[in-house]
Amino acid sequence: MTFTKMGFAGNNDPSFIQPTVIATRDGGSAGSGAPSVPSKPSFLNSSASSNLASKRGIEDLDFYIGDEAVANSKTYALNYPIRHGQIDNWDHMERYWEQSIFKYLRCEPEDHSFLLTEPPLNPPENRENTAEIMFESFNVQGLYIAVQAVLALAASWTSSKVNEQTLTGTVIDSGDGVTHVIPVAEGYVIGSSIKSVPIAGRDLTSFVQNLLRERGENMIPAEDSLTVAQRIKEQYSYVCPDIVKEFKKYDQEGDKYFKKYEGVHSVTGKPYSVDVGFERFLAPEIFFNPEIASSDYLTPLPEVVDTVVQTSPIDVRRGLYKNIVLSGGSTMFENFGKRLQRDIKRIADTRIKRSEVLSGGKMHATPMEVNVISHKKQRYAVWFGGSLLASTGDFHSYCHTKAEYDEVGPSIARHNRVFGTVG
Ligand SMILES: Nc1ncnc2c1ncn2[C@@H]1O[C@H](COP(=O)(O)OP(=O)(O)OP(=O)(O)O)[C@@H](O)[C@H]1O
Ligand SMILES: [Mg+2]
Repeated sequence: MTFTKMGFAGNNDPSFIQPTVIATRDGGSAGSGAPSVPSKPSFLNSSASSNLASKRGIEDLDFYIGDEAVANSKTYALNYPIRHGQIDNWDHMERYWEQSIFKYLRCEPEDHSFLLTEPPLNPPENRENTAEIMFESFNVQGLYIAVQAVLALAASWTSSKVNEQTLTGTVIDSGDGVTHVIPVAEGYVIGSSIKSVPIAGRDLTSFVQNLLRERGENMIPAEDSLTVAQRIKEQYSYVCPDIVKEFKKYDQEGDKYFKKYEGVHSVTGKPYSVDVGFERFLAPEIFFNPEIASSDYLTPLPEVVDTVVQTSPIDVRRGLYKNIVLSGGSTMFENFGKRLQRDIKRIADTRIKRSEVLSGGKMHATPMEVNVISHKKQRYAVWFGGSLLASTGDFHSYCHTKAEYDEVGPSIARHNRVFGTVG
């Protein structure tokens, strides 16, 4: 399930992080979360507009979003308006946004420009629909729709390893449902080279859940087993340099590496504890050796990254290897970036060696510089990049305005000018 991250430009963290779910009386179809970043907090509330309420009638206000939706799932139907990163129920999405703006952010849309984000390869019609809702239902002052990967690049500027504010790089965005590898050249996504990998947080969580079950950790109440697996994954997992050696270490002095997870039964309140062993390094290893968990998908992530760069135009490849940026919850494992960097470098070096050999020693290519950037804002990198860009003086001049919308119509939102170098 995707989470919506919302908050105000200039802040370090989102103000609200909620599952992108809406609970309605009627039921309906499915989805997940576009973060919205209004450009400034609102102080004035002159005309707390409720266009929607008047348009729809009062019974339509009977719904919840986010955690409150989940809490009311017994009496309401849960709907997920975003599927695979894209909006697929516009009515539910509109209502989700309505509460996000009025009930959570508590701001007056007329006084704000909104920055929304979109996944790679979002169809332009989706941008038009978004603009229509934002301008017509909410009457927002301005709107900018940013590509998530570009914002993730901007977020990496906070890393001390980055010394130029470039919008060229390869973004590895790994969330709960999907992992994307996205090459970006000067703020433009190279769409034809994007790859997605069907391994992400949810798969790692259920892998841990299975391991615990197989090992007979039967103290965990069935209804808590997913949450416990997720917590164990988030708190204790790390990426090792070499899976065979790591297993040896565990065989020889396991006690040193085992952890105890202390839980409390969600219904009875009884405490219990769970031994945490090799799932600590085995779970994230799935990115590097997918055959551990699946027989259908077998390509290691470093190889995918290499292919993405190699299928991009030759003149940007160096820039793409040099600035590989991490984004999203499932890139948070300790040493994830380090291992990726080493493995990608090996692949690139091997290719260079091979071409030297093939040329009979006549060709000497300069080694490829491979950098994988980990940084403090990685967890919510997309949101933070948006917060950074939307707080610059230039932001408003890049937004579509209400006046432009009224003149041209939704098609103005098909294109959003690339903007990005702070200054
Ligand atoms: N410290 C951590 N270590 C490992 N995994 C983590 C950590 N913190 C969060 N996660 C995992 O990250 C995932 C959520 O990441 P994120 O918020 O980027 O996803 P999302 O954007 O909501 O989903 P998606 O991008 O798939 O639509 C969950 O699977 C969660 O368990
Ligand atoms: Mg995401």
